[in-house]
This record gives sequence, structure tokens and C-alpha cells, in this order.
Amino acid sequence: MKTKILKANKAGLHAATIAIKKGQVVVFPTETVYGIGASVLHKGAIRKVFKAKERPSDNPLIVHIASYAQLDLIAKDISGKAKKVMQKFWPGPLTLILHKTKSVPSIVTANLRTVAVRMPNYVFAKKLINATGPIAAPSANISGRPSGTQAGHVIEDLQGKVDVIVDGGKSKIGIESTVIDMTVDPPVILRPGHVTQENLQKVIGKVITSAKHKIVKSPGMKYRHYAPKAKVILVIGKDKKQIIKGLLTKNCAVISLKSKFNVTNFVSHNLKHFGQHLFYNFRECDKLGITTIIVEGVDEKELGRAIMNRVRKAASEIIV
Ligand code: TXA
Ligand code: MG
Repeated sequence: MKTKILKANKAGLHAATIAIKKGQVVVFPTETVYGIGASVLHKGAIRKVFKAKERPSDNPLIVHIASYAQLDLIAKDISGKAKKVMQKFWPGPLTLILHKTKSVPSIVTANLRTVAVRMPNYVFAKKLINATGPIAAPSANISGRPSGTQAGHVIEDLQGKVDVIVDGGKSKIGIESTVIDMTVDPPVILRPGHVTQENLQKVIGKVITSAKHKIVKSPGMKYRHYAPKAKVILVIGKDKKQIIKGLLTKNCAVISLKSKFNVTNFVSHNLKHFGQHLFYNFRECDKLGITTIIVEGVDEKELGRAIMNRVRKAASEIIV
């Protein structure tokens, strides 16, 4: 398949709109990460999304909307708390699990009776979805790889497998949205993200998290997600700087917050920058032929929770 690469401008919007309406697959930028999208109502197109991404069919997709009229097509029986968080955080990096309507084909939700819904806060995405209707879109990467946060990285994974890729530059947030299940009370955070538990609790009171991470000290964690080709080692605890120094080898890189190391070193000075560049840095390390990436752990609070969630899943070893 020949993939058209378009700019996120008026002409790109026009062509991407036609493509989605025709049942084609379009990669488009959002404020979190790039999405690989198809019309929710076009089952054939949704099937192509699963195929291009090599995504298991039991992993449901997020439906992206641009208005509350579109929300009514997709979800029903929306609770008062759900309405409150929408008002506060939409458009933005928050995905709500809601009860689905009959209009959403079961292939989108992997046969669940619930649907994940997000209203992104990115002008191109909003205009596209406004013009096409709801778009189902998982992150634009081959399953298991780091999510795409700029067109070049998306092209590496998906060129020749999708109809269109829209280049909107670097994603502002760089980490996928927070996912919260609003069909239960208290609501449960299924995936931490830019909108934190603290942010949510201020609006709707008690919110719990499902992820009770165990610290794994040795290799052999079952799955890797968000993972570059290089091996990822996460180092946490108060001696982390010393431990990292002892681990440095010729072909390694370090991703760190503030601390500097005398190898290929991606240093951020705040969590926001660290999060925005995490997947980007993973992919850049692969391009440089790095074989081991050492990540200096950050405090697991606020945005740090989302960052550490992704790094833990990418890591094959965690050292304390
Ligand atoms: O920021 C984002 O959320 C990006 C951009 C493109 O919007 N999208 C994204 O999609 O990260 P994806 O498919 O990579 O992640 C969706 C997550 C998956 O972990 C999936 O299992 C979960 O949401 N999910 C989707 N529908 C669900 C449902 N009905 N119940 C529980 N979890 C669901
Ligand atoms: Mg993903």
C-alpha cells in the first residue's frame, strides 16, 4: 500500500477527511500521542487498524469525539460524576470508560459493553473528527513498541500499512491519556496519564487506581510494552545515581531527570519534559544503535506516576 504523507494544514485536513469517510486508515496527531484512526461506523476500516498495528483483537480501542452531540451517539447512562470530569478535563488527555450504545460496533470495544471515549485537545484532530464523526484510534505504533510522538517515528512503524499519515510535529504531552472507568463507583484509574489521580479527586472525590505495582528486582517480567529494541533497565531508590554509574557500558544511554552521566545522556529538567520525550528518546536510542537504556526512576506522584507506569512496562529489569 502506498502511504500518503500529509501536513496538518487545510489541504491535509481535506484529504484526511475524505480518506476517513471512504473507510481508509489515517494516522493523525493529537496532544498526547499520534493515533491510528478509522471511522467508528466502518467495521472494515476498524479491522484494518487492528491489522496495521498488529493489535490483538481482544484489546479495545478509544473512540475520539469532537462534540457532546457525538458523545450521545457513542455512550449512554452517563453518571453525574462522569459529566463533571468531562466538563473539567475535556477537550484533553483523559479517556472515560462509559456504557456503550448500540451504534458502536463490537469490534471497536472487543465485545465489551463499555466504550472508551476521549475528546482530544488538538486543533487538527478536533477539525477532522468534527468533519468525519467519531474516530476509533489506538496509539500509532506497532503493538508493544513505544507510542509514536512525531511523524518520523510513526512512519518507521506504519509506512506502507496505512493510507494516510498526517504530520503535526512533536506531540505536546508525549504520553497517552489517563484512562478512568466511570461505570463503577468509586471510579477506577486503569491507566495513569497527564490528568492525575490528585486532579480527578479534586473534582469528584474518591478515585482509586487499579495498578498495584509489584517491584520486580530480577529479569523475566512477562510482557514488554512501550518498548524500544534496546534493553531497558529502570533504577530506583535513594542510591540510584551510584547504581547507574556502576552500570554504564560503551553502548548504553541514560535517560535521567537532572542528573548527568558521561555517556549518551538524555537529561530533562522537569517531569513534563521527561514525559514528553520518553518514547521519543527510546526510539532515538534505537536509531543510535544503543543496546541498553538505563532510566533513572522519578518520584511516583502526580505526572511521575504515568511516567513510571510506562517505564516499568518497558523495562526488563528493575534495580532498587
Ligand atoms: O492518548 C491516548 O489515549 C491515545 C491517543 C491516540 O488518543 N490513544 C491510545 O490508545 O493510547 P490505545 O489503544 O493505545 O490505548 C487504549 C487503552 C488500552 O489500554 C485499552 O485496553 C483501554 O484503553 N480500553 C479501551 N477500551 C476499553 C474499555 N471499554 N474498557 C477498559 N479499557 C479499555
Ligand atoms: Mg497504545
